[in-house]
Amino acid sequence: MKLTCLTAILSVAWSAVGGAPAVLKDAFRKDFLIGAALNSSHFCETNSAEATLVKQQFNSISPEDVLKWESVHPAPGKFNFSLADRYVGFGVTNKMFIIGHNLIWHEQTPAWVFQDEAGNPASRDLLLARMREHIFTVVGRYQGKIRGWDVVNEALGSDGTLHPSPWLKIIGEDYVVKAYQFAHEADPQAELYYNDFGLEHAAKCAGAVVLLKKLQAQGVHIAAVGLQGHYNMIWPTEEDLTESIKAFSTLGVKVSITELDVDVLPSASNYTGADISLKFAARAELNPYPDGLPGAVQQQLAQRYADLFNIFMKHRHEIQRVTFWGVTDGGSWLNNWPIRGRTSYPLLFDRNGQPKPAFEAVIHTTHAKKLTYTESQTTTR
Ligand code: GLA
Repeated sequence: MKLTCLTAILSVAWSAVGGAPAVLKDAFRKDFLIGAALNSSHFCETNSAEATLVKQQFNSISPEDVLKWESVHPAPGKFNFSLADRYVGFGVTNKMFIIGHNLIWHEQTPAWVFQDEAGNPASRDLLLARMREHIFTVVGRYQGKIRGWDVVNEALGSDGTLHPSPWLKIIGEDYVVKAYQFAHEADPQAELYYNDFGLEHAAKCAGAVVLLKKLQAQGVHIAAVGLQGHYNMIWPTEEDLTESIKAFSTLGVKVSITELDVDVLPSASNYTGADISLKFAARAELNPYPDGLPGAVQQQLAQRYADLFNIFMKHRHEIQRVTFWGVTDGGSWLNNWPIRGRTSYPLLFDRNGQPKPAFEAVIHTTHAKKLTYTESQTTTR
């Protein structure tokens, strides 16, 4: 992004509440952390305008890709921490709550992880040894700096049973507990999370509850469940979200919304998950706004964001953090998933780093709460 955009970002009057520039992390300071997922252009500050925006607006960061197995541990015995160190350094310098994402997943993990030296499927012992080495090396390196880890990502299928990943097939069901035990040994102070999409569906939510209870029975402390939050204009409903927040908080586990974005584009299917391997062919009618979002749709998106944050605010005592998956619309993965080359508008900042009506709507959900509070306190003030 160019200097002109930076100037625009800094000079714009974000007048949401009482004339002061609106800042997400300040607006929600008493409620939950506000995060963004970053790529290297943010934390290496090559995109200085967006890096400025991140520092101004967010108090927690997640890495889009640089801590995934394929980035950090590309070959046996070979670790590459150059970008991950920059990511963590950015968070430390700016005093942010730094998230590690993720340790154990079936995507973005190289094929060699699941094979022996001859290219045959690895044995249980070999894969467990690799898992332990990976977790100890990565978690150990950032001990005291990364405050919470997505230890296992997307272990469940849509029916709530364990997804038949190579982890499950080779190690067996206890791969999940092993991952949490290794992570806890590697950094006893770090919070450990379970992160998945579609947990607002009853069957998958019930499966996650079973999984969490098993982990708790084995002495694992799960600090929070991450609802990824890849949402659209109608899903999930308030009831869906409320049911899943309740289900997890009943177990004594906090909830975080870890990868929030709201897709306004027409869907190629009824699918409401975020399986990154899913692909559909491009069709013009599925990319209706290549030149900009019409005002009416912009307002609908703002309303949808307001509705979601009103739900989050209602449950603010159960919610630890709300993290957006990206910073501006231009950098969102939804420009290329599940259809390549679309123009998507899922975040609070537009392609020039300008706050959208959705930004104001989100800020206003805290204002609304304060107004109610002030009204109820008027007699004592
Ligand atoms: C999943 C993963 C993230 C990311 C997003 C899409 O939800 O957890 O790491 O890959 O998909 O970009």
